[in-house]
Amino acid sequence: MGQKLIFTRSGAFRAEIRPPSDKSLTHRAYMFAAIARNGTSVILDPLKGEDCESTLNCLEKLGAKIERVSDHETRVSAIQNWNTNPVTLDCGNSGTTMRLLCGILAGQVGVTATLGGDESLSKRPMGRISAPLSLMGARITGATPPVTIQGQKLKSISYESPVASAQVKSAVLLAGLKAEGTTTVTEPALSRDHTERMFIALGVDLEQKGNSVSVDGGQSWESFTFRVPGDISSAAFFAAAAALHPGSQVTFKHLGLNPSRTGILDVLERIGIRCDIEDLDDELGEPVGNVTIKSTERLNPFVIEGDLVPRLIDEIPVLAVLATQCDGETIIRDARELRVKETDRIAVVSDGLKKMGANVTPTEDGMIINGPTPLYGATIDSAGDHRIGMSFAIAASIAEGETNILNADAIHSSYPEFAEHFAQLTGQTPQVVNA
Ligand code: S3P
Repeated sequence: MGQKLIFTRSGAFRAEIRPPSDKSLTHRAYMFAAIARNGTSVILDPLKGEDCESTLNCLEKLGAKIERVSDHETRVSAIQNWNTNPVTLDCGNSGTTMRLLCGILAGQVGVTATLGGDESLSKRPMGRISAPLSLMGARITGATPPVTIQGQKLKSISYESPVASAQVKSAVLLAGLKAEGTTTVTEPALSRDHTERMFIALGVDLEQKGNSVSVDGGQSWESFTFRVPGDISSAAFFAAAAALHPGSQVTFKHLGLNPSRTGILDVLERIGIRCDIEDLDDELGEPVGNVTIKSTERLNPFVIEGDLVPRLIDEIPVLAVLATQCDGETIIRDARELRVKETDRIAVVSDGLKKMGANVTPTEDGMIINGPTPLYGATIDSAGDHRIGMSFAIAASIAEGETNILNADAIHSSYPEFAEHFAQLTGQTPQVVNA
């Protein structure tokens, strides 16, 4: 069963925290350091979560030298001698590790790798990357993990992705760097653009037009230094908690504010929550700031649809929790992607919230939630999904009675200090039961 965490209702809070560093950016920083032309890159404040450790371990097996200098610094050397023995890479729970690495390995002639993962990752769709990579000439097998890939000489393509997915887009762009000619990816809505921003900051010539991005093959970069900003997807949990507890206020220091990730701030404002942003600076093309969230008495319901969905895709579970306390009908649609995340998040969130007393109707591509309804403690299985574990911990903070989160260790993949921050902010220390 793994670890169980028991949460109880908490009160209003006023606090300031440095949320964990951004997961998407840490993965990319590690990978882009490993494929630099030469030298050793310095990654400051990387996320120490398990997902990013999976990426580091895979890169090490492929030939990168990794130095875990301290909790605040990891150094990754550019791979000079790729491991040409067939390797097995364990991507753990991390879709980003698997999909982006496939993009890198597709054009790495001489390298053969089999990429696998845990029970959750083993069920996730990989056809979405093997389809475009095969069109580029890659040899890749496995509709679901394990995926075996053998590096080939690649040709460029112009690819219309059926999904707004940064993982698909990034895999194709990374392969495009190794292909002859110009590779273009077009997506139905703009997904997070971290890869594009980092490419540009590292000197790659990239063209962006609407929802299309093109890159010429044959480009590379020198080693670099990057300080990873805080993760808005992790801050989302305590932002929602502040919204749920009238009289609360929370400030997130050094938070990543890339516009392709800030959909949650737009939604909070629609709900009536004040979000004050103090812009700080820029880290390799990524805007960073301090953000203060202040609660309000009445919470307005909201609609999440269309282009907004990819800008807050990972925050939908906790926004669904918040919707249970909004005054009226909240509609979430165009979010079918939630069904292929670490769990089927439409099913798991709806079932869990219903168990706690909420009025939720799951739909094919989202949820309809009518509020406000009081919540009651329940037993919720994270089913290996970190964001499910944390979303229900936030629901527990307004519920009557105890909430047991089973398989809570999943939380470590993106927010190792979540229980500690929960205690620090709310004054309620979750009880830990190790099975
Ligand atoms: C990620 C992209 C998103 C997101 C995931 C991280 C990334 O997935 O849900 O947590 O780092 O590129 P998709 O690109 O599949 O939507």
